[in-house]
Amino acid sequence: MSYQVIARKYRPAKFSDITAQEHVTRTIQNSLRMGRVGHGYIFSGLRGVGKTTAARIFAKSLNCQKLMDDPEYLQQVTEPCGECESCRDFDSGTSLNISEFDAASNNSVDDIRALRENVRYGPQKGKYRVYIIDEVHMLSIAAFNAFLKTLEEPPPHAIFIFATTELHKIPATISSRCQRFNFKRIPLEDIQKQLQSICDAEHIAVEGDALQLIGRKAQGSMRDAQSILDQVIAFSAENDHGGAISYKGVGELLNYIDDDTMFDVTDAVTTQDPAKMLDVAQFVIRNGYDEQDFLEKLIEHLRNFLVVQNLSSTRLVERPDAIRERYQRDAANFSSLAVMQMVDFILLTQKELKFQFEYQFRFELALLKLIDIVHAVPSATLQTPSEAPQKKKPLTSH
Ligand SMILES: Nc1ncnc2c1ncn2[C@@H]1O[C@H](COP(=O)(O)OP(=O)(O)OP(=O)(O)O)[C@@H](O)[C@H]1O
Ligand SMILES: [Mg+2]
Ligand SMILES: [Zn+2]
Repeated sequence: MSYQVIARKYRPAKFSDITAQEHVTRTIQNSLRMGRVGHGYIFSGLRGVGKTTAARIFAKSLNCQKLMDDPEYLQQVTEPCGECESCRDFDSGTSLNISEFDAASNNSVDDIRALRENVRYGPQKGKYRVYIIDEVHMLSIAAFNAFLKTLEEPPPHAIFIFATTELHKIPATISSRCQRFNFKRIPLEDIQKQLQSICDAEHIAVEGDALQLIGRKAQGSMRDAQSILDQVIAFSAENDHGGAISYKGVGELLNYIDDDTMFDVTDAVTTQDPAKMLDVAQFVIRNGYDEQDFLEKLIEHLRNFLVVQNLSSTRLVERPDAIRERYQRDAANFSSLAVMQMVDFILLTQKELKFQFEYQFRFELALLKLIDIVHAVPSATLQTPSEAPQKKKPLTSH
């Protein structure tokens, strides 16, 4: 049996299966209904959020025989039928009406000339030929210029979809001739739901919290989330729980610094316990976690306190319920001002650590100093980067 990675196996086949990009799919579907389709589109956004997927469904719709022949179906469903000859060609990868062109590896003027040559010929079957030009920001200026003419006077059958993760690198001469769609980062909840339905379809038992951990790691990219899920499934396959995916297992695999360690830091501050704080620092160093990464997570941890303090709700804290309750409880231990002072100090520490050699030693001291910041030093004399940039002292001065 051949194995297909999840990201490909679960690539959406219809507009309505694309998660969290309704602002894009709705507009495209409307233009199909009204028969007002442009010749140039730019799809921008983070990696793995549905740009190529949407472009393919768009191309498939433009050539779907049912959409062309059945006005009612076009108005009411506005999805590729998946059954006509053209749709089947698309699904099997044999359609000649779609060309994908990777601008990262074909970015010379000659490559563009070859593409232009190709564009002159209309489709043998169907109505439109769609050219998806991926990573278009990698084209040279000369290559862009070579393309401009084609874009100004495109043959009626040609539609160009330029996909990019770096919109600002596309010359205005190109982007002003296109309709632009910005694909959003996919919200954690939507990623989690999608992963859950994949696990259901694959008959894999999974703890909801484990999927949340995967989703957080993916930071808004559905493809990243699905790739991590592949890895997690392989990792869990022969475990003691019959392949079930657990929160703890995912944490181990992702070498994830767990929330308990973060709460150890704030507990050490609350109880003014330097020994405990040193334990945390040692734990981080010994386990080979990256100090900067740890500080980044610590900022997120403190941010969660601020959110709870300011909203009186844990709604925006992306954590399992038990951890949310802990934030709710512990938030009473600090004033918002104290939390912000810790955040400022950590930001400063991050900057300073970049230029230090005795890295780990400084890291330990910085953690210890958090206790002082909240308890010993009167807040008025504290230096934050924004207040006293000119008098910035080294962290370890006494
Ligand atoms: N919005 C989404 N809804 C559902 N699945 C998605 C979505 N975005 C991405 N995916 C999943 O991730 C895979 C990759 O998506 P796609 O190729 O469309 O990303 P992309 O935005 O073109 O990324 P890149 O910038 O890396 O080319 C798809 O096969 C699909 O499984
Ligand atoms: Mg893509
Ligand atoms: Zn069809």
